[in-house]
Amino acid sequence: MKKGVIWINGASSGIGEALAESFASHGASLLLTARRYDNLEKIKGRLTDTQVAIAKLDIGSLPEIEAFDLNTKCEYGIGCLINNAGITTFTPAEADPMDLIRQIVEVNLIGTIACIKKVLPLMIEQNGGTIINILTVAAKKVFTNSSAYAASKAGLAMYSKVLREEVRKYNIRVVNIYPGATATPIWPESVLQKHSSRMMQPEELALMIRNLYENQGSVVSEEVELRPLKGDL
Ligand SMILES: NC(=O)c1ccc[n+]([C@@H]2O[C@H](COP(=O)([O-])OP(=O)(O)OC[C@H]3O[C@@H](n4cnc5c(N)ncnc54)[C@H](OP(=O)(O)O)[C@@H]3O)[C@@H](O)[C@H]2O)c1
Repeated sequence: MKKGVIWINGASSGIGEALAESFASHGASLLLTARRYDNLEKIKGRLTDTQVAIAKLDIGSLPEIEAFDLNTKCEYGIGCLINNAGITTFTPAEADPMDLIRQIVEVNLIGTIACIKKVLPLMIEQNGGTIINILTVAAKKVFTNSSAYAASKAGLAMYSKVLREEVRKYNIRVVNIYPGATATPIWPESVLQKHSSRMMQPEELALMIRNLYENQGSVVSEEVELRPLKGDL
């Protein structure tokens, strides 16, 4: 595992938790953030073989991100930011209240960009680093009942494509991952009961993402779609 802290936001459940376990199993130093601090404590309690720092951070709050002291948590540099925190709805556009749409955009797009802005000075100074965005296949293909989610993730995808070209000169890799359906608590229980067996498991996804991070050398997998073998739901 390369040196430097791996910061995973939204590490308190689902894919983020699986990423934490996967990176920890290869000796990475981790910084895990989310709103549910008690969940982070439980996860940290299981990851005893590596250095794990946890912190409460609501990425829907720009002042919180601004005040977040990243530098002291990255004494030996930052290896990677994994932008995993995300929220969605499963309702038609006409039923989504504006404040909920705003919240989705504030977390999935604005707050995530603020996390990127937080790591950029460190990565530029150390002349390298990796930013991995956990996007969604819904940023590329139309799935109904997730319009604000799709818009927020597609916005982050395009932001990151532009950013990628700007930061190549600093050896910063920007990786967009577009996962298909994965069995996590983001889905309503009724959907999980019906479809979880044909969804990806978060541990499988985490393994693929860790491999992408570890095996890059001078080659970068910049845009990656990861789907269940049986295809989209
Ligand atoms: N599951 C899928 O089928 C699927 C497919 C494609 C992409 N994704 C993406 O994968 C990512 C992880 O989702 P998941 O499926 O693992 O669902 P999940 O278990 O619900 O995880 C979502 C994570 O985001 C965090 N989060 C939400 N709002 C936050 C906020 N305001 N500030 C900080 N953290 C926040 C949650 O932590 P707290 O609640 O503790 O803050 C939680 O750790 C999301 O970005 C999602 O869009 C999922």
